[in-house]
Amino acid sequence: MKFLVINGPNLNMLGERDKDIYGNKTLSELDVKIKKQGEILGVDIVTFQSNSEGDIIDLIQKQASQMDGIIINPGALTHYGFSLRDALADSNLPVIEVHLSNIYAREDWRATSVIAPIAMGQISGLGWRGYVAALQILVGEIKGET
Ligand code: DQA
Repeated sequence: MKFLVINGPNLNMLGERDKDIYGNKTLSELDVKIKKQGEILGVDIVTFQSNSEGDIIDLIQKQASQMDGIIINPGALTHYGFSLRDALADSNLPVIEVHLSNIYAREDWRATSVIAPIAMGQISGLGWRGYVAALQILVGEIKGET
């Protein structure tokens, strides 16, 4: 099994950006945590980050046929990224949306996700562990674990 883990705009700045909100870990440290979980579960992980919605869509279109699911933190695209939402829906893959921060406990505009309606589910506010949990859930669902 193979999974895409995508981080959107500004998440390359993790470790420097608003540490009180997003935590101390850099994006590479976060990727290490997810890949470690991938090893434990015996699945392959492809990580990708871009500040450009178009680049993320290009990647999804190119890679979807070789993937079993997508974990995505769309950053601020969460709140208005309709093209990203369409690309995720068109992939026909199970998608879990992850946010490091609790988007419901911040500014009002962050509480709306245009991605959530096409996602299998959303994890918000649990920091880097949210990505690890998302992977466990996706693999468990796909394997039909009871
Ligand atoms: C975020 C929340 C978004 O509102 C914000 O624009 C981000 C990060 C999160 O992980 O908490 O860039 O997706």
